[in-house]
Amino acid sequence: MTEPLSPEDRAKFAAARKAVELVEDGMKVGLGTGSTAAHMVRLLGGLVRDEGLKISAVATSTQTAKLASEVGITVSDLDDLRWLDLTIDGADEVDPQLNLIKGGGGALLMEKIVATASDQMVVIADRSKSVGRLGAFPLPVEVLAFGWQTSKGLLEEMLSGLDVDGREVVLRMADDVPFRTDQGNLILDLHLSRIGAPLQLALALNQIPGVVDNGLFLDMCDLLILGHEDGTVSVENLATGRISHERVGIAEPDNLFTDISDR
Ligand code: A5P
Repeated sequence: MTEPLSPEDRAKFAAARKAVELVEDGMKVGLGTGSTAAHMVRLLGGLVRDEGLKISAVATSTQTAKLASEVGITVSDLDDLRWLDLTIDGADEVDPQLNLIKGGGGALLMEKIVATASDQMVVIADRSKSVGRLGAFPLPVEVLAFGWQTSKGLLEEMLSGLDVDGREVVLRMADDVPFRTDQGNLILDLHLSRIGAPLQLALALNQIPGVVDNGLFLDMCDLLILGHEDGTVSVENLATGRISHERVGIAEPDNLFTDISDR
């Protein structure tokens, strides 16, 4: 049995449905990670299976690679495809300049590499992710396990000189053990409340030995698709500054979810 989508999921689904319209036959596509991106992967899988859409795809996490395979999308290595036409991914926060915080799911490193290797990054999200200023969502920073306590100390010291409101640095846990990324690294979540100068912070973070990368995605998102519970979306184009509003169908295609849960 398929459960009806919650209002939040309807909004995510609407954004995902609009985003897959951008995927054309023959494209090389980066597949994001998270619950919104999962809707997009399932929808793309439906197009591949049922409508013969031919794409090459790269996943931004093992979780997404597994889902993509389950829905019939062949996943390639980024090193084989090298450069992608389009990456579609979710976000934890989006500011008015379309700068992002990502990494709530711990996949920020692969997500950033894949988005950087793409002509276009499309971000899909429900409206709650849109914020006036970044920072309420804890900023994930991926660090090597080697010497992580030292890295944490250096991060705390560095934050005292930066334009942020909070300075707590917390090791991410998964149940009772430290969370490990797909690369075997750790995540430190920075509870900053407000990030006054995102670029300055991003540059400073990556100067610390042991920091692999941080969850600030600055000047990377080209198109933002925000979904709403009523099945409408707003599409904001960074280059033109244009925002359009439209309605997309949010009735799930037959078997979209039952196919997957039955496997
Ligand atoms: C994964 O590491 C994140 O960057 C996700 O893209 C982000 O957390 C958004 O996830 P949801 O779509 O589940 O909100």
